[in-house]
Amino acid sequence: MSQAQKNLRKIKSLCYLTLGGTISYQFIYYKKDFEGYYKNVLQPISQRLNPEWSHKLGVSALKYGLFPSENFEDPTVLKTKFLNNELSNPIGIAAGFDKHGDAIKGLRKIGFAIVEIGSVTPEPQPGNPKPRVFRLPEDQAVINRYGFNSEGHDMVLKKLQNLDKNIFDRGLLGINLGKNKTSDDAAQDYSYGIQKFYKIADYFVINVSSPNTPGLRSLQSKAELQKLLSEANKTMKSLQSDKKPPLLLKLAPDLSIEELKDIVSVISAKDTKVDGLIISNTTIERSNLNNQIVAQETGGLSGRPLTDKSTEMIRIMYKLTKGKIPIIGVGGIFSGQDAYEKILAGASVLQIYTALIYHGPPIVKKIKSELADLLIQNGYKNVNEAVGKGVKL
Ligand SMILES: Cc1cc2nc3c(=O)[nH]c(=O)nc-3n(C[C@H](O)[C@H](O)[C@H](O)COP(=O)(O)O)c2cc1C
Repeated sequence: MSQAQKNLRKIKSLCYLTLGGTISYQFIYYKKDFEGYYKNVLQPISQRLNPEWSHKLGVSALKYGLFPSENFEDPTVLKTKFLNNELSNPIGIAAGFDKHGDAIKGLRKIGFAIVEIGSVTPEPQPGNPKPRVFRLPEDQAVINRYGFNSEGHDMVLKKLQNLDKNIFDRGLLGINLGKNKTSDDAAQDYSYGIQKFYKIADYFVINVSSPNTPGLRSLQSKAELQKLLSEANKTMKSLQSDKKPPLLLKLAPDLSIEELKDIVSVISAKDTKVDGLIISNTTIERSNLNNQIVAQETGGLSGRPLTDKSTEMIRIMYKLTKGKIPIIGVGGIFSGQDAYEKILAGASVLQIYTALIYHGPPIVKKIKSELADLLIQNGYKNVNEAVGKGVKL
């Protein structure tokens, strides 16, 4: 062997050694300190990727079990009763992250008690043209105009039929229903969803609040909502089953007090009732944003700019409904304090989405442990005791 060949061999061995060392180091770092690894390695990479790609990668990582199980046992103070179920904690993943029901098991593993999938439309549809998701890191916010990209009822149902429902011990699977863009019978689209998924859903969401499907938000008007909910209630009654999943309505944060009062009058009537509210979806408002360029993008804004707006709306609806209709609070929750404020305003349980985009799976444990501390410090024995305590009825 010539000297040159020997040198080449040495260089190759050195390269393999370095590569092996780096991979081992990364693996040990990942295993020993996932939170640090996520923050210092995975998060910076994910923030450099195109937001939709990053979303897809996150869903795939959860689907294939690449994120470790959360090393946090839910403390007793986080126990929550919601919709007649005992949950180990009150935190859920909001609709729009796992639109097609791919990552349910992984989402449970990283600590969510509630997994809401969807929005699912009856027929498959591609959604709006790309790009359709935009980050505003300076504002800890996101604008999206996905427009209900959905694999459709049949495909999603097939996946759910293969799901081991035992993973929902002390948890809930919610199915968020949408309507097809080209459908001119919204009530029928939601009724189809109820009929399709009632055996598997722990609750349904009638989503009439995404800003990216033309005409969808007008379904929140009194007359339209009456028609829609009367049809949904009729469908629910017609089900030949003891299992009738509760029906929740997801609202936009951009409604006026008068509109909210109208909604309360509809959902309190026997034939058009709902069992719960989700407050809120994304906003079309764009006030006080630092990133004025991305702010011009059309779509729904989520994250930090939504925190107070959605909390205020929860407070108003808790008051208007006299605390009688359970509320899932969602919008700009990044910390235990944000979650606690929504509970005091009247939310029974909570959901997050944008915080997961910016902080990854470790955010779930952070919110839960901070919330547990706050509840204990303020003398509450469990979440239910604190619900609505900041509102004078
Ligand atoms: C990228 C993206 C997609 C979303 N898609 C849906 C959806 O399909 N259906 C729905 O009801 N809400 C959807 N939402 C709204 C969220 O469920 C949630 O209501 C909103 O983002 C506020 O919570 P956050 O500030 O924690 O993100 C989406 C939100 C984002 C950021």
